[in-house]
Amino acid sequence: MKENMRRCGQDRVTRRSFLVAGAAVGAGWAPALAADDPVIEFARESCGDEAARLRVLVAYASLCGATGEIAAAIGKKLCEAHLRVDVRHLPEVTDLDGYEAFVIGSPIHAGTWMAEAMRFLCKRQDALAKAPVAYFIDCMALSSDKEESRQLARGYVERPLKLAPKIKPVALGMFAGKVDYAKMPERYHAIMRRIVPQDADARNWEAIGKWGEELAGQLTGR
Ligand SMILES: Cc1cc2nc3c(=O)[nH]c(=O)nc-3n(C[C@H](O)[C@H](O)[C@H](O)COP(=O)(O)O)c2cc1C
Repeated sequence: MKENMRRCGQDRVTRRSFLVAGAAVGAGWAPALAADDPVIEFARESCGDEAARLRVLVAYASLCGATGEIAAAIGKKLCEAHLRVDVRHLPEVTDLDGYEAFVIGSPIHAGTWMAEAMRFLCKRQDALAKAPVAYFIDCMALSSDKEESRQLARGYVERPLKLAPKIKPVALGMFAGKVDYAKMPERYHAIMRRIVPQDADARNWEAIGKWGEELAGQLTGR
């Protein structure tokens, strides 16, 4: 536990490289909020029957809001399977009591999960390890349907698995993401435009929905 917390504390994004559409780019920036950053309305939803036998928290990290919309789509599928679901942006999650299963998502920023997601896993590892947990990520590398991109995306999940080894995810969703410059803090524009020159929404709602349905089946044992 001590060892994990120490490594969590050191979980800063350093210089990493990432590959999008075959281009290798050095990235030396860690997402952190500033006063003039765009104001994002993060997805926040609850659905399903109060009396449902399983209550699920779908909690996500996000900088520009795209991951929350993915989380909401997954939550909708879980509700359609008669689960009770709360979809929440991670910074507002304070209490895990009352949930029997968890879905945790993060966009990939500079080759890794957002710090708020990593911190959450480290801090809540013991509680999360007692329940079924599914992870999902979204990133622009997956906008290219190549084995090389999928391999890169699989690598993006290694770090959280290592940092919170007690959590053994029952499912792992890997989705293409979205770039929206109006919602992105100005300081990331120049470097991101070298990789994704203009707004792009590569999210595949069919694939996201299918994953949500399969997860619902796993959680309900159907
Ligand atoms: C600062 C920043 C860094 C990013 N770094 C990566 C990366 O390393 N690899 C990648 O495939 N996509 C990268 N992306 C793309 C995001 O993963 C993608 O746009 C995601 O859907 C954004 O989710 P959000 O809107 O919830 O923040 C980056 C985007 C931003 C804004």
